[in-house]
Amino acid sequence: MRTHRCDGGDAGALRRLIRLRFLKADGTLDREVDAPAGSILLHVAQNADQPLEGTCGGQMSCSTCHVIVASDDFARLPRPSDEEDYLLDFAADVTPTSRLACQIVLTEEVGALTVRMPE
Ligand code: FES
Repeated sequence: MRTHRCDGGDAGALRRLIRLRFLKADGTLDREVDAPAGSILLHVAQNADQPLEGTCGGQMSCSTCHVIVASDDFARLPRPSDEEDYLLDFAADVTPTSRLACQIVLTEEVGALTVRMPE
């Protein structure tokens, strides 16, 4: 397991760090990363070498940033928009806790997050 700090492209200082655990598709731990509150999950995941294309750059038109959020963590996230729910219908390996990583802001309220890559 490798652990490193990842700023998610945001250079803000003295903000709370959010602990992210990235799991492989088989459920085993790939990497843990700390990211500043306010970061976007997709950017942090890509900086941590996770296999998320994010083809549309967060414009919510591709669903290649699909991740599966741990069920305990899913409940702490704001609900997905209708548009996000619609787009998830086109993603592979969708589960009840699937989300689009480009739509998840890592707020202090989230605290920590575990996400699994889809098959
Ligand atoms: S990056 Fe395209 S929907 Fe998230």
